[in-house]
Amino acid sequence: MKDPLLGNKIAAALLTALLLVFGLPQFAGMLFGGGHGGGKELHLAYCCVELDFAEAAAAEEEAPYDLGLLLANANPASGERRVAVCKSCHSFEEGGPNGTGPNLYNKIGTDIASKPGFNYSSALASLDGVWTWERMDKYLQNSQEYVPNGGMVQRIARDEQRADIIAYLGSLSPNAPPYPEPIASAGGGEESAGE
Ligand code: HEC
Repeated sequence: MKDPLLGNKIAAALLTALLLVFGLPQFAGMLFGGGHGGGKELHLAYCCVELDFAEAAAAEEEAPYDLGLLLANANPASGERRVAVCKSCHSFEEGGPNGTGPNLYNKIGTDIASKPGFNYSSALASLDGVWTWERMDKYLQNSQEYVPNGGMVQRIARDEQRADIIAYLGSLSPNAPPYPEPIASAGGGEESAGE
């Protein structure tokens, strides 16, 4: 189950819960004056808070997709072996030639569709910004889904294999930012590390 919005959903559920707990009694108090007759609404609030939490917890049990964790465990050397399948179209070395596809040196952290001398599809060229780890992950997972009508058709379905390839691309990218942080495991929210 891949739900990049899971964190947001949980945050929204928590926020809703907080609003209900702290907001509704006040609101009920305003309506019913000094809390008389507000009991019913209060009960309702606690009923809904429980529901929200139950929903969030259920969603959390299906471990969220964690690109940070995948990359932390990835092996650029096996990524280097895996890109053999890309080499009919791409070169990887610095200053390497463009082929059917552009040279892939220095991609992560660099503008999308920016290799000089390569004639990109308008679909890819119309994407703004740089190749982040997340965007590269989505592109390589299903390039036609991420860039409909783009010039590349690739699907690397296995998460670990894709992470290896992305880590390899990162190792060739002087502008690459640090890997995304792995999502903190549920319940283990210590923040001990200084950096
Ligand atoms: C059959 C040829 C072909 C193969 C095989 C192929 N690609 Fe591509 N790739 C392309 C083309 C063509 C483009 C340009 C797409 C466009 O303009 O929309 C591209 C674009 C890309 C880009 C974006 C480059 C940029 O400058 O923004 C990346 C990253 C990429 N490919 C990675 C890979 C990886 C990794 C593999 C192997 C798993 C792979 N490609 C296999 C043809 C291919």
